[in-house]
Formats: sequence, C-alpha cells, structure tokens
Amino acid sequence: MSGLVQLGGVPVAPVRPVPESGPMADGFGRRVEYLRISVTDKCNLRCVYCMPEEGLPWLRRDQILRYEEIAQVVRVMAGVGLRKVRITGGEPLVRRDLPALVRMIRAVPQIQDVSLSTNAVLLEEHADALRDAGVDRVNVSLDSLRPERIDAISRRPGSADAIFRGLAAAERAGFAPIKVNCVVMRGRNDDEVADFAAITRERPWHVRFIEVMPTGDNLGVSADEFVSADEMLQNVRTVGALEPVGGPAGNGPARYFAFPGAAGTVGVITPMSHNYCERCNRMRLTADGQLRPCLFGGLQTNLRDPLRRGEPLEPLIRHTLAIKPERHWLVQGSDTGSGGLRALSQVGG
Ligand code: 5AD
Ligand code: SF4
Repeated sequence: MSGLVQLGGVPVAPVRPVPESGPMADGFGRRVEYLRISVTDKCNLRCVYCMPEEGLPWLRRDQILRYEEIAQVVRVMAGVGLRKVRITGGEPLVRRDLPALVRMIRAVPQIQDVSLSTNAVLLEEHADALRDAGVDRVNVSLDSLRPERIDAISRRPGSADAIFRGLAAAERAGFAPIKVNCVVMRGRNDDEVADFAAITRERPWHVRFIEVMPTGDNLGVSADEFVSADEMLQNVRTVGALEPVGGPAGNGPARYFAFPGAAGTVGVITPMSHNYCERCNRMRLTADGQLRPCLFGGLQTNLRDPLRRGEPLEPLIRHTLAIKPERHWLVQGSDTGSGGLRALSQVGG
C-alpha cells in the first residue's frame, strides 16, 4: 500500500483486522475518537527532558502541513468518529495565526472539544483570540514555581515572567479547566511537589505530575532523576489527606485526587510505572503529516503525500488503526533505552 512507512522496509508491525467502515476502532476493539495534532516541531524553550539545548534538525516549511491540509485530515477523521482534538507542538503558539486553524477545526460539526497544550510563554498575547476562535481548554507545562528553576529546566532564561502572565491570561480568558503539567525530576523540582499541590486548595488548577520518560533526545536527564508517581503522591500527602476524585473534563490517562474542599485537583500521569494503554483512545498527527498510532515506537503512516496527490485518506487511517500496538514497552532503566520514543516535540507529546 502506498504512503506507508515501515521501519527499514520490513513490516515490523503485526496487522490486526479492523472494521472497514463506521467509527474508527483498532484491532483490539479500542475506539479512537481523539487526535493530537502537532502544528510545529519548533519550540521557544529547550526543556531538559525534551530536546537538546541546540535544538533539533527542524522540518522544512514545505514538509509541514498547511492549516487547510490539517483541517482536511480532521474532516475525514470526523466522518469516522473523531470527536476531540488537541493542538500541540513543539510549542504551537510559535506558529503564525493559530486561531485560524482553530476556526477551521471548529467548523467541523462533529468536533466537540478543542484543546491546546502550551508552555504559556506566548499565551498572554494570544489567550483571548484563541478563546474567541473556539479553544475550550488549555494545558500549560510548568515544572517549577521558582523563576530560577524554570530557567534551569527550560534553558531559556527569563521565561518565567511571561509564563506566569500567560497562566493569568488563560484564567481571565475563561479557559476551564486549566491543567498544569509538571514533569517531576529528582534534584531539579521534586521538592516542589507539595507546593504545587498546596496551590490546588485555593486555585482551580488541575496539577498533573508526570513521570519523566526516556526519549531519544533527553540524554541530559539521567535514569536516577526518575521519580515514581507513588513517591510523588507520598509527598503530596504531607500537605494533607487526599481523596480519589473523577478529575476534570477531558478523560485522559491521569489519575486524580483532591484535598477535601479544594478548588482544584492533583493528578499523576504514569507512563512508566503503570501503563494505561488498554484505555488508549488516541492517535497523533505530526507536523509533517505522519499519522502515528502510538506515542512510542516508529510506526507512522504518511498522510501528507497522498493528501497532496488528492488520494483518499480513509484507507490509510484504517491501516494505521490496524497497526496500532496493544501497548508500549517503556521500562525505566531498560537497555532498550527510549524504546523508539522520539522527542515529544517531534511527535506531538
Ligand atoms: N517525559 C515526560 N513528559 C514529557 N513532556 C515532554 N517530554 C517529556 C518526557 N520526556 C511533557 C511536557 C508537556 C507534555 C505534553 O509532555 O512537559 O507537559
Ligand atoms: Fe518546548 Fe514543550 Fe519540549 Fe519544553 S517540553 S522544549 S516547552 S516542546
């Protein structure tokens, strides 16, 4: 079949039969109704767990899908069950006129939920326009509450001010719920877990602590910086007793807890210690138009070139569903390293 990328030309992925029509489902019966769309691989930060300080070899402009092309993919997938879209990067706000893309996606009647993942550096300037265009929710990456630590982790000194202004602007613009993603690393920010959690008593933030994953490009983060979610939760419990709660809208892989009577919640995302693959409902579209059935591994289907040739996309989408793996095999400290996980900026973390 044309347009399929297979590692080294060898069919490495077992193909399982999937429905040939109707709502998208994979070979394990999982319905797919959620697409994460990376609009750029570039970023204005250099977070230690994501990419090297000098950046990565960026895609060329002609390799990147135009907004109209992204909207076309969304329209085709919406016809077969897509309901939720998240816009990611890299940093999506470094791409020009993102509200234009949001409006195109919003114009697709089946799409019920449009959200954005951002580092918030440029959010103050764009929050209102994004809200007007139809973004329902934002996730903000924030790994520390202390400016000097934000500088050290993001390796772009001086970003903290803009990030805090961006968060405030998001609250003013009416985005709700606001999810704050914090990648916890030993010796860099693990002593702030309790401080982050304490904020949720007063503010309607949903703070999600994320276990750091070994990716191909974060060799600066060593295995002994890994902190498990169980350890994070122990630290949170020093602030007060927690009760399990359902969590905010947008059913993702996090498990949520709250202090009784708190405005917000505390969540943990545990790609390493507990995988949640059996509930996976998503696929990813990279900035260069590759449809990825799984965050991990090298499997992807080239939608861009067939799209530009005017070929039908649905068979390619069905094929990608058919090769969606049952689970990933990331294991902390395993000698298979990143298990084929590229920088999240390249695959739409
Ligand atoms: N491990 C864990 N989380 C990561 N993110 C990016 N790279 C990694 C990694 N190696 C996070 C970002 C963002 C989310 C989309 O993924 O901080 O919050
Ligand atoms: Fe940029 Fe997000 Fe990667 Fe940080 S984690 S460098 S903000 S893409």
